[in-house]
Amino acid sequence: MTKVLILGANGGLAQNTTRVFLRDTDVELTLYLRRANRLKNPDQRRVTIVEGDVLDREKLARAMEAHDVVYANLAGAMKQQAEHIVAAMHTTGLKRLIFISSMGIYGEVPGEQYKSVLDPYRDSAAVIEASDLDYTVLRPGWFTQDQEVRYEVTQKGEPFRGHDVSLNSVSDLIVKLATSPGLHVRRSLGVSQP
Ligand SMILES: NC(=O)c1ccc[n+]([C@@H]2O[C@H](COP(=O)([O-])OP(=O)(O)OC[C@H]3O[C@@H](n4cnc5c(N)ncnc54)[C@H](OP(=O)(O)O)[C@@H]3O)[C@@H](O)[C@H]2O)c1
Repeated sequence: MTKVLILGANGGLAQNTTRVFLRDTDVELTLYLRRANRLKNPDQRRVTIVEGDVLDREKLARAMEAHDVVYANLAGAMKQQAEHIVAAMHTTGLKRLIFISSMGIYGEVPGEQYKSVLDPYRDSAAVIEASDLDYTVLRPGWFTQDQEVRYEVTQKGEPFRGHDVSLNSVSDLIVKLATSPGLHVRRSLGVSQP
């Protein structure tokens, strides 16, 4: 049974992806978040909730034990968070990481200048890409509430296509990555609606 640890589990995308994991797969989930009383356990049999900060390295490493996949859905001090995640994965011997970033971190969006607001996204992706982990960095476009699942991916080095992407599309890709060993390993993918 695959066990997935979701970091920043109270995030909008993380909550949507939790729902898709429970609906479409039989994986077990650990939801790691600050102030855990904000989140109701959606399935007592398959979901464990752990209160913690990603910057608490000991707690983070403990939460990773016996898991197969880490899915990081974070914001804020992302470079530091990425460093803590890589260190904790080394401590626990975990390899597979799905890390949510943003479109634009390589200046890859045609017609858009790189903006400094993306620095934490770019710097954290650089930490992940320099690691020896089996990572997939996702660079989604702007999230929409559109129910449809329709997306294309672009590789690092290619221009980003489109602008928006539905939360359901990004969740679909995350679930596929977490449950398909080897899929898009050591890649950084743009994700957008064609
Ligand atoms: N909205 C868009 O259109 C769009 C497009 C592309 C990329 N993105 C990015 O994709 C990522 C995921 O999106 P989202 O909508 O799920 O973001 P979100 O709702 O802002 O969720 C981010 C989560 O990270 C958690 N977090 C921050 N620092 C933490 C720490 N030290 N320890 C534990 N948790 C921590 C926050 O927890 P607290 O609730 O405790 O603060 C929050 O729940 C974000 O970085 C977002 O900026 C967004």
